[in-house]
Amino acid sequence: MLGTKDTSPWNLIELSSLSAVEIKDLLDRAAQFRKGLAAESANSREMGGPRPRVALLFSEPSTRTSLSFRVACQELGVDVVELPADRSSLLKGESMLDTAQVLEALGAGAIVVRDKSDEVIDGLAEHCRAGVLNAGGGTKAHPSQGLLDARVLLDHFENLEGRRIGILGDVVHSRVARSDAVAFTALGAEVVLIGPPEFLSETGWPKGVSVSTDLDAELPRLDAIQVLRIQHERIEGGMGLPLSDYISEYQLDEKRLESVNSEFCVLHPGPMNRGVEISSGVADGPRSQILDQVSAGVYVRMALVEKSLGLKGLK
Ligand code: CP
Repeated sequence: MLGTKDTSPWNLIELSSLSAVEIKDLLDRAAQFRKGLAAESANSREMGGPRPRVALLFSEPSTRTSLSFRVACQELGVDVVELPADRSSLLKGESMLDTAQVLEALGAGAIVVRDKSDEVIDGLAEHCRAGVLNAGGGTKAHPSQGLLDARVLLDHFENLEGRRIGILGDVVHSRVARSDAVAFTALGAEVVLIGPPEFLSETGWPKGVSVSTDLDAELPRLDAIQVLRIQHERIEGGMGLPLSDYISEYQLDEKRLESVNSEFCVLHPGPMNRGVEISSGVADGPRSQILDQVSAGVYVRMALVEKSLGLKGLK
């Protein structure tokens, strides 16, 4: 009959509801599992080691980075444990380091971390036995993004020697811009940071990086552009210029693309704010490599996980 169950479920709400025999049975069963797991672990070590595991520890939102690390692990045959910070004991005051050590104790050989603080990620790298892979920290670095953007540009141009790559928008708050600049210049490209003065910074960049406030003057001289969103969550006291002015001076739209060369391509690390830094026509247009960036993220992150876990030859 609808609404009835054949057997009653077994619940455990309080230990006082169990008899001593029931408690002992449960503890014996746990010991059996421990023995089985230990034997399995010994067997797997003989066959080349225990099943590798990666932990994802993100205390800022993510779609692309977290999912592509997850897919990368699946492709490599690596287990994933994921701890969304907004549902973790971080909310009860546990530190990121204590949290990371819990993940290590659960078998994580590498921890993929995103945090608003560069120092937190540096601290984990210093103290964790597991490898730490920065999935975007503060405003300083998003190394896997820099690598995947470079991968996409290399797929498009074969070689970045002498290429001129623009990075457009809210550069000063962007960890992507910093990692892109390092990756692109390392491969021989020149990088031009483009945006209003409020969004630019002239110091701390590698050799080969210049700065411009004039998008329309730069576009015909560029081979590619990485468009960045305005990072309102990192801007204190407002962005310093009206949004309508920003859109009219710096939005990458179809009209502006009329001045670019035939090979020119458009990147955006996501998430996009369509109609602000980029028009839908450009985002979805023939020069867009934006979804290729997402796919490249999987392969780049497979390489990072493989290296961090020492998995060469796993598959
Ligand atoms: N590019 C990037 O880091 O995107 P997510 O914030 O969605 O991971």
